[in-house]
Amino acid sequence: MLGGQLLHGGDYNPDQWLSYPEVFEEDVRLMKEAGVNCVSLGIFAWATLEPEEGRYELDWMDHIITRLEEEGICVILATPSAAMPHWLTQKYREVMQVQADGHRNLSGKRHNFCYTSPVMREKITAINRELSKRFGRRKNVILWHISNELGGNFGDSTCHCELCQEVFREWLKKKYGTLDELNNAWWNQFWSHTYTDWNQIHSPVPYGETTSTALILDWKRFSTEQISDFCEMEIRAVKEFSDLPATTNFMYFFKGLDYNRMQRGLDIISWDNYPHWHKQKDEVPAAVKSAANHSMMRAFKKAPFLLMESAPSGISWRTANPLKRPGMHMLSCMQAVAHGSDSALYFQWRKGRGGFEKFHGAVLDHKYGSNTRTFRDVSEVGKRFKNLSTLIDGTVNQPKAAIVFDWENWWAVEDTQGPRLDFEYKEWIVSHYRTFWEEGIEVDLISMDADLEGYALVSAPLNYMYKEGWADKVRKFVSNGGHFVTTCFSGEVNDTDLCFLGHHPLEDVLGIVPEEIDAPSEEFENSFCYGGMEYPAKDLCGIVHPRDTVEVLSVYEKDFYAGCPVVTCNPYGNGKAWYLAAESDLAFLRAFYKDVFAEVGLHNALDTELPYGVTVTERSSADGEGEKRIVFVMNFKNEPVMVEGIGKWMDAESGETCEGSLELEAFQCRVLTR
Ligand code: GLA
Ligand code: ZN
Repeated sequence: MLGGQLLHGGDYNPDQWLSYPEVFEEDVRLMKEAGVNCVSLGIFAWATLEPEEGRYELDWMDHIITRLEEEGICVILATPSAAMPHWLTQKYREVMQVQADGHRNLSGKRHNFCYTSPVMREKITAINRELSKRFGRRKNVILWHISNELGGNFGDSTCHCELCQEVFREWLKKKYGTLDELNNAWWNQFWSHTYTDWNQIHSPVPYGETTSTALILDWKRFSTEQISDFCEMEIRAVKEFSDLPATTNFMYFFKGLDYNRMQRGLDIISWDNYPHWHKQKDEVPAAVKSAANHSMMRAFKKAPFLLMESAPSGISWRTANPLKRPGMHMLSCMQAVAHGSDSALYFQWRKGRGGFEKFHGAVLDHKYGSNTRTFRDVSEVGKRFKNLSTLIDGTVNQPKAAIVFDWENWWAVEDTQGPRLDFEYKEWIVSHYRTFWEEGIEVDLISMDADLEGYALVSAPLNYMYKEGWADKVRKFVSNGGHFVTTCFSGEVNDTDLCFLGHHPLEDVLGIVPEEIDAPSEEFENSFCYGGMEYPAKDLCGIVHPRDTVEVLSVYEKDFYAGCPVVTCNPYGNGKAWYLAAESDLAFLRAFYKDVFAEVGLHNALDTELPYGVTVTERSSADGEGEKRIVFVMNFKNEPVMVEGIGKWMDAESGETCEGSLELEAFQCRVLTR
């Protein structure tokens, strides 16, 4: 565990308060009061750290780091590339991103520089080296925070400038070697799109190429590569005089960048989480989405991650920003830890007096300072984390199930002209994830590049693209006793969006031969029976033919494909593969996965039925010895609930014995151990 304790604190921007000298000492005093042991410093401080080109002003930061050290507060030190000073953008126009419409951005906002620009790279390297030299070996500095939410520029994360176009072409040359290869891989004979000169290739833009899905895919891959390369260059600079690990803060289901690629360059994973709590009375949808992202962050390195940002109460960027209801702050911090976070950090410590985010929730308020409900809620977390740190030290979640969530598949399936144009891959993943969450069965979100070893069950909904090697990996997994679930519109294309010819790549494993796909309108909605109940088959109905090994569990009841399989199960080697030919509803997914879990032998850590709104996770000793078992039981209902049939446990925080049943208050999380 970084710093030997659960980190509690967050973004700290004292550079905005330098002309209010009394504020800093008050901050330190209140941090102690709130149980804050860590701050992220200097994220947007470039203009203060380097007020003019080449003149570095680091004394103010030195003073802050020193005082924090005296108070036992550690520092996550940021590099300042996320927001550029005006002197830089004024003198060197090329550091600004060019938007897809061809305009080069003017100065201002943030997260809007060109990742290729040699000037930008040179300037950020220079200041990063200064930070590294001065602070990289300080006792209380524990981690490098590279930039901020890389690629997060209100929409398009990529830069379309001439420099980026050139590097893109070079990247393509390296990937394909010759234009012939590229033309074939992209199927460019279609609409006479054959390139005869590398310089004819341009990034996809609204007034240019928007129809070549293979080009779009490669552009997204390239942009990920370029941004990762920028991040890795920053890491090299800060590590010049420092051995500290590095992270960058990821975002919620961020489609712009393939985090699976990006995470490779990082030592520690961290992310920013702003769930839409209290959007509706039922908090389960928000809890599930938040949990799914935690599960993805944890799965990248199969290790604890950091919750780098979250809101102490409300936020300021949704149309309506609800305050966290009593209990929700503690619960959402505990949720992060329950899924593998070693921190609860906030944006931000003190509300800025002015600027775009002045009304965003923060630990300290403009008028009431620390005399607020928010401050008290935060302090409660600080208190609880002290004891919890010892309890969970050395533990990590170790799920036996995985759901495939792959960026390249995401990009491809949502861009393709197919049976539907409104695929929402993320929603598919979340709806499958939800059934695991409701049963309290932990699941990793993994890409197609991940190792499947160690999982008993892998589910790959809407797995449209089969990346190189994927079909073989799944075949081997099932053959060795693994259980695999997949759905209609899977295994359609390869990495460059070329359709597979002849047969579905996993026909033998799945035991079916897919033929057509219907996208029926509401009036043509179909139905099927599963486990004695009737469910709808809607939106996407695959028409598949059974091979002789397969067991057909359900068939369509209507229309010209009545009698064709909807749900199938095929024994293959030592394992089994299920196929869901049609999209249905949550009730069906619940019933289906319940059976799958029983078949695979998966159950939650309490081995009991959970009431609606309650879920369970477990962190156990990372060494695999299983000596420590810490179980988190979370109630996302705003009313008390009873969990029955739990066997004998001990409340790890109070020492109280719990046997048979467990009571949870509204929005409560309890921590149990054997
Ligand atoms: C993001 C950013 C922060 C801040 C918060 C507000 O996560 O990283 O700088 O803008 O959003 O919610
Ligand atoms: Zn550029």
